[in-house]
Amino acid sequence: MNILVTGGAGYIGSHAVRHLIQQGHKVVVIDNLSTGHREAIAPEACFVQGNVSDENLVKEVLINNSIDAVMHFAAHIEVAESVEKPYKYYANNFSAALSFIKYICDFGIQRFVFSSTAAVYGNPVETPIKETHQRAPLNPYGKSKMMVEDAIHDFARAANLGFAVLRYFNVAGAHPDGDIGEAHQPESHLIPRVLQSAMSSQVVLPIYGTDYPTHDGTCVRDYVHVQDLVRAHSLALEAIKPGQGQVYNLGSENGFSVLEVIQACQKVTGASISVEKYPRRAGDAATLVASSEKIRNDLGWKPQYPDVTTIIEHAWKWHQKHPHGYALQNEQ
Ligand code: UFG
Repeated sequence: MNILVTGGAGYIGSHAVRHLIQQGHKVVVIDNLSTGHREAIAPEACFVQGNVSDENLVKEVLINNSIDAVMHFAAHIEVAESVEKPYKYYANNFSAALSFIKYICDFGIQRFVFSSTAAVYGNPVETPIKETHQRAPLNPYGKSKMMVEDAIHDFARAANLGFAVLRYFNVAGAHPDGDIGEAHQPESHLIPRVLQSAMSSQVVLPIYGTDYPTHDGTCVRDYVHVQDLVRAHSLALEAIKPGQGQVYNLGSENGFSVLEVIQACQKVTGASISVEKYPRRAGDAATLVASSEKIRNDLGWKPQYPDVTTIIEHAWKWHQKHPHGYALQNEQ
């Protein structure tokens, strides 16, 4: 297939691009490089720098490359930032995405994979969370994603768009060869931050909240390896039928607290990590653990790296090979 990947220079997008190319697809990336890295895009992919809300650019890419399918990763992703800057999230994650979906529907795209998030669930009433669980996001990030989910269902009816909405839990790890990985600026995610502390005794890790209703008082999350996540995208893409759609959770069904992740990182790295207790971070749910039974049953998805230790080992390899992320990799 000829596949358009938006946000293909980002953390998850770049792993997806590499996987799709390995599967024999032709990949075109649109990314404005606001947070992504040109170096993260596999050289075999065609790269177009620009915004998904740019109608002329999107139409040109769709026509010139005879695009058959679209994966939409481009989005802002910081929960806490979304609480402070809601406009940024509604404008990019919802408004720009809405325009983009209209353009691809006008072109006649019938296979669309959308990156959604566990943040749409808010504080779960039942755990593990099933796809049928009520959606009650706690922050603008989750709300902006929920709004796109709803719009997609309407486009499916009106424009015969076939879709897969994939709700990610906590994506972590890196390609096992350590050549691409997570490089957010600034980094806010737990595992890369713990590993940054492991690399430098001067970097103290803040623990946001120790009074949550969990077994050790810190937040519990479900970590899924980025390579398993992108394999799920391929399976979901292949199964899409015009005008129909599915919603799948992507997680590993295991919950780890912040303290447990820190311990696992200490084991993998052999470093002692200095921590400091902080108040709760705005917009955080206490526990988010997925049921991923639906995608396992429907599509036969089975994580290859379900163990959090392997996830951390691969992330550690990436961080050691690229201590400054992509920016200074040529100066090592
Ligand atoms: N945390 C810390 N210290 C840090 C960083 C994080 O204690 O320095 C804590 C957070 O408060 C949270 C947990 O570690 O309790 C995980 O935080 P992350 O920032 O790594 O991930 P989130 O759970 O906030 O968000 C991630 C994705 C979202 C997605 C969500 C769903 O970034 O896109 O998972 O589970 F919506």
